[in-house]
Amino acid sequence: MATSNATLLRGRILSFHRAPQGPDDHTAYLYEEDGAVLIENGRIAAAGAYAEVAERAPADARLTDHRPHLLLPGFIDPHIHFPQAQVIASWADQLLDWLNDHTFPAEMKFADLAHGQRIATAFYDALIAHGTTTAVAYCSSHPNSVRAYFAEAEARGMRMLGGKTMMDRNAPPALCDTAQSAYDDSKALIAEWHGRGRASYVITPRFAITSTPAQLEAAGALLAEHPDCHLQTHINENHNEIAYTLDLYPGHADYLAVYEHYGLLGRKTLLGHCIHMNDRELGVMRETGSVAVFCPTSNLFLGSGLFDKARLETAGVRTAIATDVGGGTSYSLLRTLDEGYKILQLQRQRLHPFETFYWATRGNAEALSLSEKIGTLDADTEADIIVLNPAATPEMALRHETARSLADELFILQTLGDDRAVMETYVAGKAMKAGRRI
Ligand code: GUN
Ligand code: ZN
Repeated sequence: MATSNATLLRGRILSFHRAPQGPDDHTAYLYEEDGAVLIENGRIAAAGAYAEVAERAPADARLTDHRPHLLLPGFIDPHIHFPQAQVIASWADQLLDWLNDHTFPAEMKFADLAHGQRIATAFYDALIAHGTTTAVAYCSSHPNSVRAYFAEAEARGMRMLGGKTMMDRNAPPALCDTAQSAYDDSKALIAEWHGRGRASYVITPRFAITSTPAQLEAAGALLAEHPDCHLQTHINENHNEIAYTLDLYPGHADYLAVYEHYGLLGRKTLLGHCIHMNDRELGVMRETGSVAVFCPTSNLFLGSGLFDKARLETAGVRTAIATDVGGGTSYSLLRTLDEGYKILQLQRQRLHPFETFYWATRGNAEALSLSEKIGTLDADTEADIIVLNPAATPEMALRHETARSLADELFILQTLGDDRAVMETYVAGKAMKAGRRI
């Protein structure tokens, strides 16, 4: 008789249907105290009450009992820098000095494929350890870094997005490409990787300062030729960055006008930071459906400023939340939610834990236009699932003794949790953390 390869995970399951509108919006999510997820061929076949899901499971399904832990969709990190794994925690002044003194020298090493491969192993180990199952990364300007990045994702079966950083000025010559070579290399990498397994290519001009007008034009041409690719860049992170950009691009109304001029905006455009935005820029963000990506640990670490979520969302701008390692200081979306919460607290915008956990899962999936595939426990989506323990450390366990609700538990996870709270990370149904076969 044929075997089914089905897996049944039992535990408390939590998955969002839409953005919760505050603490009492209980119809925004599915929560089952005694729940289960049935996985077949790397996809979620069913999720819900254990008794019902178990009834549907093939007789030979392998059962893993994760009770009393929580099962959630894997975290999604929509802005991270793969070649900055050895830049994280570098003492520097603000953005532009940090780039010149630490970041550019580290990225130069990625010309060497073997270096990229070694860092890729460690980078993906870190993502899995922290419960991140999909990320959107900047690779270095070297095509080899993209190969190392996607090859390791493919070996682990992960849905990953990323691309070669395009940069042809204001950086060391060893990192600079040209408008033409960036176009040619990106085009070749799109042909090699985009849509191969779970890989998606992201057109990646670093930011206006490190691209000539000719290169931004090349980026716009790539996006027009490959509208199913995402595009990522940085904007309005730091006051010196903004002033320098407007010097380099005179005649534009503001920073966003530069990207607008070169046709870089749209529903697949991810704009890192968006801290110092004017009202015109917000209007254009809304009209084009471009996504503002909040990077709290990075914004604090580099002293960049406070992301104003309420202002952006009131203006109709789509938002996401990300680590931005290595400007960011943690791979953990839990740590990131905690720091994001504090940045918003400073502005009297207090997010409820239902809202933050929505953001790091389904919210980020929606921002990437990928919620049909990832970010929920919905049937027919990909089985990227994490197991979270709100009492993972002695301090968490002590606080957890007094938790009275699911929201309390989520808030403990967010405020005190990190990779130690991630008991298991399933990628397309395979246990990759505790259950990993080495
Ligand atoms: N702006 C341009 N490049 C970078 C980068 O690598 N990190 C951050 N935080 N901002 C940038
Ligand atoms: Zn960044």
